[in-house]
Amino acid sequence: MRKAGTKQQLGDFQTPESLAKKIIKLLKIQYRILPDVILEPTCGTGAFIRAALEEFSPVRMIGFDINENHIKTAQKSIQSHPHLENITIKQADFFTTDWQNILANISGYLLILGNPPWVTSSELSLLNSQNLPIKSNFHHRRGIEAITGLANFDISEWMVLQYLEWLSHRTGTTALLCKYSVARKILLQIQKKFPHTFSRTIYLIDAKYYFNVSVKACLFILSTDGEKSRDCPVYSDLDEPMLCSVIGERDGFMVRDTIRYEQGRHFLGQDTRYIWRSGIKHDCSKVMELKQISSHWFINGLGEKYQLEKDYLYPLLKGSDIGNGRVNQYQKLLLVTQKWVGEDTRMIQDKAPKTWQYLRDHESFFKKRKSSIYNNKPPYSIFGVGNYCFNGWKIAISGLYKKLNFYLVFPLNDQPAMFDDTVNFLSFETEAEARAIFDLITSDPVLEWLDSMIFWDEKRPITVNLLKRLSLDNTNPTLPPP
Ligand SMILES: C[S@@+](CC[C@H](N)C(=O)[O-])C[C@H]1O[C@@H](n2cnc3c(N)ncnc32)[C@H](O)[C@@H]1O
Repeated sequence: MRKAGTKQQLGDFQTPESLAKKIIKLLKIQYRILPDVILEPTCGTGAFIRAALEEFSPVRMIGFDINENHIKTAQKSIQSHPHLENITIKQADFFTTDWQNILANISGYLLILGNPPWVTSSELSLLNSQNLPIKSNFHHRRGIEAITGLANFDISEWMVLQYLEWLSHRTGTTALLCKYSVARKILLQIQKKFPHTFSRTIYLIDAKYYFNVSVKACLFILSTDGEKSRDCPVYSDLDEPMLCSVIGERDGFMVRDTIRYEQGRHFLGQDTRYIWRSGIKHDCSKVMELKQISSHWFINGLGEKYQLEKDYLYPLLKGSDIGNGRVNQYQKLLLVTQKWVGEDTRMIQDKAPKTWQYLRDHESFFKKRKSSIYNNKPPYSIFGVGNYCFNGWKIAISGLYKKLNFYLVFPLNDQPAMFDDTVNFLSFETEAEARAIFDLITSDPVLEWLDSMIFWDEKRPITVNLLKRLSLDNTNPTLPPP
């Protein structure tokens, strides 16, 4: 048995009794589930076990959790149950449990319940925690990527994919609480691995109220019963469920509103002339971002004043500027040390000796940059830079703001504006081209179509990956005229 970790490492948020009861009632009354066996692989202090025993007893009940104290609490809470012989509650680590053996001894309709840990693999790796799938070769990531398609994943995502593997060979249902974003990732995986095996439903829940966490969460029900549509209805809540939208996989991505997506699907396409990019990444804002205080004097984020050449300084618009529509003026300049990724920076020494000296004076700040992308690169390297940055005309949108507002960005002070890496943009050599594409992108049908794909609860709802699905070929007859 591996050592149990802290509440954080175990993604430990115990479900309130009232919520567990509500969910079990829904499964019994609405879904008419009559399980032979109930399994809760991460049962905690047992809220679901108690609620399920109340509605489904006599039933065979199996509950595990890594945390010994939780298990003791759960065991104690059911010790006077009349069918104790049907109940097994014991300490077990999900990742080292012999599930094949356990499942081989389970027959009949299986209900897998619960609220698996709310923690991601990268949070665990920061905590140096071992609460991860053992055979996954986690640090080399290949094993995980093969299963989830991603380097960072939620532990619950891993667990639920296991539940589905088990259920794919029998009849049963899983009903679990998880982040809404995790449910979407699982839906994508289901589409790849078990496209015709499970019906799918989501009920949003108020995670602030039940768990005091600010994250969009849901009850996710997957069942071998019911209609096996590739789409998943999302209901507003458990008490008075109203259909909010039907989400589903389309063209390899999850979309937020499959009906509106289909209506605008003719906008899908790529055009190699215009490529969405993210702004410049440098991880050294105190040094690289400066305010101009007089013709040749600048002040950096450390409060130091320097006289610099203007050759490498460009107007900077940050994500917050773009998000708030501040595109006609700028507060700061960005020191853009390269024209393309990997360009030799030594030429700055001859062309702009004061700038070179300034960079050398702040060598230690560059050395402290943690990201490995700067390893073995010329000194003072930046990322997300290319010839496209130096085009004067741009269309920009903030990736972090929860609104679909695109802005035309003109040259500022006769110089191309630069963006930080939270901004997505297109760039153009001419104003006419920029305006034509801007009109296309901001037409109502296109905005409507883009909106149908966006999950606004994402940390970064608008990505290059999303924007590039839109065809920018303005000769396409299905697009609105420029
Ligand atoms: C979000 S809590 C939910 C607990 C319980 N299912 C409930 O609904 O109240 C997650 C639970 O997962 C347990 N857990 C975390 N890692 C585990 C592992 N590797 N094996 C088994 N249980 C684990 C934690 O101890 C915690 O009780």
